[in-house]
Amino acid sequence: MSKEVKLDIETYLKVKNDLLEHVGKPTNIVLGLDEESSSETVIISEYWQTEYGSVTLMHKRDKTHLSDGFDVCELYEIQFPAVTNVLPISIISDDSDIQVIEKPLQADPIEKLINLTDFKRMIIHKKGAGETLPWSELYFSNRMLEEHLEQSHDQASRAKKDIENHVSFLIAEKILRNNLRVLDIACGPGLYAEAIQKQNLETVYFGIDSAPSAIHYALKNFSVKDYAFKLGDLLTCDFPASIDLAVVFYEVLNFFSEEDVNRLLNKMSKSLNSGGQLFLELVNKVFDEEYDKEWKIINNGGLFFNEPYLELIEEGKINDSLFGHRHIILLLNSRVCYEYRNFLQEYTLSKIIKIAGNYNLHFKKAWGDFNGLPYTTSSPRLLICLEKNI
Ligand SMILES: C[S@@+](CC[C@H](N)C(=O)[O-])C[C@H]1O[C@@H](n2cnc3c(N)ncnc32)[C@H](O)[C@@H]1O
Repeated sequence: MSKEVKLDIETYLKVKNDLLEHVGKPTNIVLGLDEESSSETVIISEYWQTEYGSVTLMHKRDKTHLSDGFDVCELYEIQFPAVTNVLPISIISDDSDIQVIEKPLQADPIEKLINLTDFKRMIIHKKGAGETLPWSELYFSNRMLEEHLEQSHDQASRAKKDIENHVSFLIAEKILRNNLRVLDIACGPGLYAEAIQKQNLETVYFGIDSAPSAIHYALKNFSVKDYAFKLGDLLTCDFPASIDLAVVFYEVLNFFSEEDVNRLLNKMSKSLNSGGQLFLELVNKVFDEEYDKEWKIINNGGLFFNEPYLELIEEGKINDSLFGHRHIILLLNSRVCYEYRNFLQEYTLSKIIKIAGNYNLHFKKAWGDFNGLPYTTSSPRLLICLEKNI
């Protein structure tokens, strides 16, 4: 059973790019003449044998066009999405009568690998907030470092120019000033340290993070006089004493359960001098997103593992203040299955003020973004400045 879909050239090229990204070269290529129509039509068939079925791509082309000589070369470059292509597709592009005919796959690859009955709904995990990604694992932290440094997306850290703006915001709000001892909690690879260094302030800076590759990078690149980085888990490591300003950027506090946020605010408060400040950047209402699930094949190693794997992802609202992500990783070579879960726990402004109050910290000001927008419950973010009681 094959199915034909007529695609415009733009969509066709998009599909083709997708193919290029996911597949190896075809196992067999046959050139022939179209028996049904005129002998002026040349057919190039390409055959892929995959773990989940075989796929044939047929490209019909008028012989006269072949004089350009581009077809064969171009097709040799095509890579086919072996297992990603569960939808049988045929392609007929507007400009050149290109067809892809796909033989039905023998089995849906996901169904073949895993019983999905468990995956079709969001599981409410026993522990919930506080379960997290394997930040401190070497391979994961190494791959995550690449994401931190990537300037084209904001998935791990913001782009450097945004981080510089955040630092300028702190200076404009007189939160960051000259001669402060600053503690950057979950500092990642030290991108805020770099931005602070550019301001030529007399700052003593400490960064803590549990990701070995991030700390290694920070030590290598930003460890100048008065800038120190330490590898450690926030929940268990010691924070330096006599801090004037502690900062927690990019929603890191939302990774933690309320119990752990209590522990962390207590630790932060203890490390602050009287009158010292704590600046928090939290999620503000991300929980409207619908439950969703998707899957992808990672052919050449990805965020979680070095070898090819199938990643099943589901994410969704678990309750009014908890958003969950679940990643099931099936290593395709070694056939081992892993599961990672991470959560974002929402904390409202009043909740943070209440928790902070238990630890000698009082509320100073809140903003809705790094441009100084006043905070409302529908602001893009929740930025809070707290001060340790004198
Ligand atoms: C979204 S990144 C933000 C990094 C940095 N604040 C930034 O904005 O560039 C989250 C960071 O939290 C760190 N992290 C997560 N859980 C941690 C923990 N329990 N202890 C220390 N660091 C942790 C991760 O290693 C990662 O570098």
